Amino acid sequence: MRILVTGAAGFLGSHLCDRLLADGHEVIGMDNFITGSPDNIAHLADNEKFSFYKRDVSNYIFVPGKVDAILHFASPASPNPQSKSGYFNLPIQTMKAGALGTHNCLGLARINQARFLLASTSEIYGDPEVHPQTESYPGNVDPIGERAVYDEAKRFAESLTMAYHRFHGVNTSIVRIFNTYGPRMDLEDGRALPNLLKQALLGQPLTVYGNGSQTRSFCFVDDLIDGIVSLLYSDEHYPVNIGNPTEMTILQFAEAINKITGNKGGIVFQENARSARDPQRRQPDISRARQILGWEPKVDLEEGIRRTVPFFKQKLGLA
Ligand SMILES: NC(=O)c1ccc[n+]([C@@H]2O[C@H](COP(=O)([O-])OP(=O)(O)OC[C@H]3O[C@@H](n4cnc5c(N)ncnc54)[C@H](O)[C@@H]3O)[C@@H](O)[C@H]2O)c1
Repeated sequence: MRILVTGAAGFLGSHLCDRLLADGHEVIGMDNFITGSPDNIAHLADNEKFSFYKRDVSNYIFVPGKVDAILHFASPASPNPQSKSGYFNLPIQTMKAGALGTHNCLGLARINQARFLLASTSEIYGDPEVHPQTESYPGNVDPIGERAVYDEAKRFAESLTMAYHRFHGVNTSIVRIFNTYGPRMDLEDGRALPNLLKQALLGQPLTVYGNGSQTRSFCFVDDLIDGIVSLLYSDEHYPVNIGNPTEMTILQFAEAINKITGNKGGIVFQENARSARDPQRRQPDISRARQILGWEPKVDLEEGIRRTVPFFKQKLGLA
């Protein structure tokens, strides 16, 4: 296939390009580098099956020649309020990438009669009242809340995708991605895992907010990409959760990270200043992915952290 990947210079987009090229496809990457980096795709420069367009997907986009599939991954994605590349600091760009960017990509998919895959998110469930979250749960999102610029943009993107499927017959699919980690992730992502791993590699005590009883589940990037590619190759149109259902408390996470990295810095507890923004629990129900795609994650936390450490060390100047 000839496949367009938007957000190709980002964490997930760049891994997706690698995987699609390894599967023998021709890949066209598109990105405006607003949160991604040319470093993530530098290794593809000499690959004759890879080409790249620097474009803002929220403006009109065009790719010459027939395209067989479009994977729309372009969007700021970090929930860290301190990060310049987080969606709190890019609110309009985030809403435009989800709304106008999705519209542009769907238009391109329609004229090409291409398979379309939307990168949606567990954030569409908002602060969930059911655990774990199944795809049938409609979510609990405040449309004017601080996180809404991201959550509502993705919810709109899902609605638009289904409208193009139902009204125009476009061959669409939607993946709801849960927290993912691995090499090329943004160290300032703001989520618990990169924060704790960074502190551990620097030999510092790990900061746990509140009493550490809030839970998270993290998926290693290779597992996630396997799930996404399986969805792309399937003929499923309804949303599919892809993530790791192994739920741990933040305190368990911190202890595991200290053990895996051999950090002797211990753990310190701090007042939870971020509680208004952070959901207390988030865990995917992956029954649909298991049933429809025969997919489930294979990489456990210990193995995933080991595979992620060299990248973090390099970024921290420790390697
Ligand atoms: N990483 C996760 O755990 C996670 C979880 C849920 C959903 N997602 C979704 O997956 C996708 C990729 O996330 P990521 O973690 O790789 O983030 P990322 O920031 O590393 O990658 C996003 C890429 O999109 C590009 N981009 C943003 N707006 C653009 C625009 N208007 N035009 C062109 N390019 C643009 C950025 O420059 C960046 O390279 C996003 O849509 C995100 O919402 C990620």
